[in-house]
Amino acid sequence: MFSAVLGLFSQDLAVDLGSSETRLYQRGSGVVVSEPTVVAVQTDRRGRRRVLAVGSDARPMLGRTPTDILAVEPVRDGRISDFEVAEALLMHLVRRVHGRNGWVHPRMAIAIAHDATDMERRAIRESCEAAGARHVHLVPRPVAAALGAGLPVRRASGHMVVDIGAGASEIGVVSLLGVVHGTIVPGGGNGMDRALSAWLNETHQLLVGAQSASGLKHALGSALPPRRPDTAIVRGRCLRRGLPRAIEVDGHDVHQALVPAIDAIAAGIRAVMEACPPELAGDIADHGVVLTGGGARLPEIATALRDRTGLPVVAVDNAERAIIEGTGLALEELALLEAVAC
Ligand SMILES: Nc1ncnc2c1ncn2[C@@H]1O[C@H](COP(=O)(O)OP(=O)(O)OP(=O)(O)O)[C@@H](O)[C@H]1O
Ligand SMILES: [Mg+2]
Repeated sequence: MFSAVLGLFSQDLAVDLGSSETRLYQRGSGVVVSEPTVVAVQTDRRGRRRVLAVGSDARPMLGRTPTDILAVEPVRDGRISDFEVAEALLMHLVRRVHGRNGWVHPRMAIAIAHDATDMERRAIRESCEAAGARHVHLVPRPVAAALGAGLPVRRASGHMVVDIGAGASEIGVVSLLGVVHGTIVPGGGNGMDRALSAWLNETHQLLVGAQSASGLKHALGSALPPRRPDTAIVRGRCLRRGLPRAIEVDGHDVHQALVPAIDAIAAGIRAVMEACPPELAGDIADHGVVLTGGGARLPEIATALRDRTGLPVVAVDNAERAIIEGTGLALEELALLEAVAC
């Protein structure tokens, strides 16, 4: 009987539908799925759509599909832009966790933008229900990130979390398990990649794909000017001659191209600080700012944001998993889940 009850509980899932990666957390087990947020959809002659591949099977198809197949990224700039495809992805991943048996009394907690509109909330709820959930709990991402970062947000004391994702950077001040103030700065890591593409385009007349730009960011990107000279080779197509070309780029130039993206995050932090009542601003000045999301792994980002805001800033170790782990923590404790759900 006891194990049967545990079995039922273990069917509960937490979800973080990110612009680049979708993560699922199973109650009692932890993170069980981390897959690219990409779905390949095929349309037949009668116009019927069917899912051909999802996640890591679908990602290589981006930009490489024939006319009857479309590789779709259903989350853009941190928000669901194609609910039908997002729902198909969710259904597929839930089925992967639970097998064909389905689930019994399933509970699903899903992280959402703190400023999600009623329409977005309704659509997300419906997508979770379509994936089989009977009880759906919407958790604001800053609260999830704060819980995942291990911050004491149950107390009446302000903590600022900045989640630098792929599609956007979500800034939130969390106190008593709720978001007191927040803003979303567009861009995120994808914005940094686009800035590098634009710079290669304008300065070197080199056209590169999103993956090459991201590769350059990973190889040389830094939020502070590099201390040692370092270079990397980037391959693309010469805009003048139309032929493949490889060039050597310098870490200093890569840093310069990333500066506007870092300035925008710092401006967002300052704007949220200015909107905070003095008590909360004082708490944040004491506790500092915590960075989560994959973008928190950009070398020296914490120092660069500290220099621009005058606040102590630290990046957490579980950066890209903070939101799913925080949503998962809430899922493990029903009273907590009910307190954080919005
Ligand atoms: N070492 C690194 N340096 C710079 N950027 C990095 C590094 N590691 C990961 N990133 C970036 O982090 C981003 C992915 O972060 P994350 O997984 O938190 O995003 P997401 O949750 O899918 O997106 P979002 O929350 O915006 O919807 C990508 O843009 C990736 O390039
Ligand atoms: Mg995210």
